[in-house]
Amino acid sequence: MIKKGIILAGGHGTRMSPLTKAVNKQLLPIYDKPLIYYPLSVLMLAGIKNVLIIVNKGQLNQFNKILGNGQRFGIKITYLEQNYPRGLPDAFILGEQFIKKENVALILGDNFFYGQSLTNKLKKCIKLKSGCTIFLHPVKKPELYGVATIGKKNKVNSIIEKPKNPKSNLAITGLYFFDNKVIEFAKSLKPSNRKELEIVEILNKYNKKNKLNAELLGRGGAWLDTGSIDDFYNTSSFVSSLENRQGLKIACLEEIALNYKWINKKNVKDAINFYGNCIYSNYLRDLI
Ligand code: G1P
Repeated sequence: MIKKGIILAGGHGTRMSPLTKAVNKQLLPIYDKPLIYYPLSVLMLAGIKNVLIIVNKGQLNQFNKILGNGQRFGIKITYLEQNYPRGLPDAFILGEQFIKKENVALILGDNFFYGQSLTNKLKKCIKLKSGCTIFLHPVKKPELYGVATIGKKNKVNSIIEKPKNPKSNLAITGLYFFDNKVIEFAKSLKPSNRKELEIVEILNKYNKKNKLNAELLGRGGAWLDTGSIDDFYNTSSFVSSLENRQGLKIACLEEIALNYKWINKKNVKDAINFYGNCIYSNYLRDLI
């Protein structure tokens, strides 16, 4: 069972400069809430209540201002500062004290997931006892991501980081579930040509031991990128289309917490006070 999750929210977001010069990318808006709400909602939907957020050095206060210690959502949030981005596996080296002897989920701070079957799949993934589970999703340009090929029963056959000639259209999304060995594997890595520790090398270590499973979000689900400014606007308009059509919010953290009975109506009222007079507060008011 996985009870802990890490959100990697460091990085300089250079592709989005000047927007990211003073503000961390994960705090910029995806339509009506900061980007960080979306990956956090994924961990919460999975049932994870103990979350470590890794942020850039000097940016901790900004995150603390909006998310605090997680009490507003009935969860526990702790933070760690990263001096400079050393690649995704650094999350497990920096986060060793947080993970301790347990299994752990990792989600990248700029990843957006949506889909009817998402919650059930997440709940299945956190049952992981040993090995690693990755989330795959078909994309038009797999060469931009880690790419997996799979065989029968979703067994992973191969994994390659940003291949020039991808052998499948299945991208490895930024959502991973690991057993505790991930710490040891992360520590054994050497920086790659792009001078980063590569998550794909960890996945290959699991694969060699036949311990790598794949979960597919399926074509009815969405995994959207927020890497570039255009991606940001496209994801924002996806959220605005759905929310305005349905009258339901995506990644409303207090709503998820209320549905899971992690918080009560009084807590939602406190949240409304926190947010002040805004559309998000109106939505919370309607909930209770
Ligand atoms: C990283 C991983 C890649 C994965 C991607 C998902 O890429 O290395 O395997 O597909 O995240 O967002 P990066 O964002 O470091 O280029």
